Amino acid sequence: MEQEKIVYAALLGLGTVGGGVYKVLKSQESETEKKLGTQIKIKKILVRNTEKAAGKLPEEDRGLLTNSWEEILQDPEISIVIELVGGIKAAKTYISEALQAGKHVVTANKDLIAVHGKELFDLAEENNRDFLFEAAVAGGIPIIRPLKQCLAGNHMTEVMGIVNGTTNFILTKMSQEGMEFEEALALATDLGYAEADPTADIEGIDAGRKVAILASVAFNSRVVLDDVYIEGITKITATDIRYASEMGCAIKLLGVARNTQDGIEAYVSPMLIPSSHPLSSVNDSYNAVFVHGDAVEDAMFFGRGAGELPTASAVVGDVFDVVRNMSYNCSGRISCTCYKQIPVKKMEDTYNRFFLRLRVEDRCGVLAELTSVFAKNHVSVAQIIQKDAKSKEEAEIVVITSRVREGDIQKALSEIATKECVRKVSAMIRVYAKENE
Ligand SMILES: NC(=O)c1ccc[n+]([C@@H]2O[C@H](COP(=O)([O-])OP(=O)(O)OC[C@H]3O[C@@H](n4cnc5c(N)ncnc54)[C@H](OP(=O)(O)O)[C@@H]3O)[C@@H](O)[C@H]2O)c1
Repeated sequence: MEQEKIVYAALLGLGTVGGGVYKVLKSQESETEKKLGTQIKIKKILVRNTEKAAGKLPEEDRGLLTNSWEEILQDPEISIVIELVGGIKAAKTYISEALQAGKHVVTANKDLIAVHGKELFDLAEENNRDFLFEAAVAGGIPIIRPLKQCLAGNHMTEVMGIVNGTTNFILTKMSQEGMEFEEALALATDLGYAEADPTADIEGIDAGRKVAILASVAFNSRVVLDDVYIEGITKITATDIRYASEMGCAIKLLGVARNTQDGIEAYVSPMLIPSSHPLSSVNDSYNAVFVHGDAVEDAMFFGRGAGELPTASAVVGDVFDVVRNMSYNCSGRISCTCYKQIPVKKMEDTYNRFFLRLRVEDRCGVLAELTSVFAKNHVSVAQIIQKDAKSKEEAEIVVITSRVREGDIQKALSEIATKECVRKVSAMIRVYAKENE
């Protein structure tokens, strides 16, 4: 078999991840040929502002910078495009045009895949090109390839994880140091874990994109961002975390995807998770993805979910795979794996246990009033704990429900909130439980 000795790639973007990919490819330079039988060379680097980007490169490589996409697209020697500009519009154009021009594409772009994945996978398949995206979910942690390859002999029933480092850092600080949300967010911003505009992280949108991708890959059925119910961590308080801890649980922002008998459940939500579950001890900015399959049973993948070099590690792994496929003339080997059409359930039809914190009048008959509302709405109560009274007239109670339908608990809570004896519904947080618990 005749092998190309040099494969040329173009890097689109020289920001956090693009800069990391440049460094990792450089650090692998002397071994790439031994690993792959071929050298990989970056022939062009696309940025908007070449002057600004020049400072990130040694002098001898500054000539690689360009702000002309056409220059890359029209270059027949460039066979791999590594898209790391992020966002939707420009990235989608670059990827589509690259695939149509017969180039392979590697990307870390979760925003794009969670919305337009199908279109791009179809394009890759039509053109028999590789389109790989390992870094789009949980940065440096291998999870897409394990699901598509190593675990392909399973029917996966659950994939869930801590897939956003910023929110995990905030919740860890709230838990370990008793900080309130705002204080922990300010610390995350100071330390560079949170972006200037942290909305996508703290409101759960970033995790929602990853859930859409994970569910699609794990259950072989397309799930898009709009299918995912999303709730962030802004309402979680230090008190919720303390009470959860007293009950032997941590509160984590979980991205959950379940393949149930009547459809896929896909959501992002802060959840109480028992300290016996391995995800409960994933702290700071670390990420982890926990999967359950009918053959493998439980498996967990842990590591750095973002950052310059961890994310570049996943991108470069994909680039190496593309090069191997080129060498063996087997590009497009593992394309889109969504060959089923499983409906995605509405959030109101999902089942969970719930932690409720209520401030109520401290008098006889209140508990009976509450339990009758729960019973009327098919919410079975597993536990009621009375906390120390804040004043003579007021009591705080914590209710833990059995596994109930989301729509039923929401209805019960709206009714409870109107009761005269209820001063405030302070919290409603889902509690992770296995499907049969
Ligand atoms: N950061 C992480 O830890 C991480 C982890 C996993 C996945 N990702 C994904 O990786 C991708 C890149 O993220 P990042 O954090 O590296 O972003 P970033 O630091 O903002 O870098 C973006 C780069 O792309 C260039 N760029 C932006 N729009 C462009 C356009 N229209 N044409 C040409 N160049 C353009 C920018 O150049 P100028 O500076 O000249 O504008 C910059 O060099 C995103 O899809 C992100 O979701 C990131």
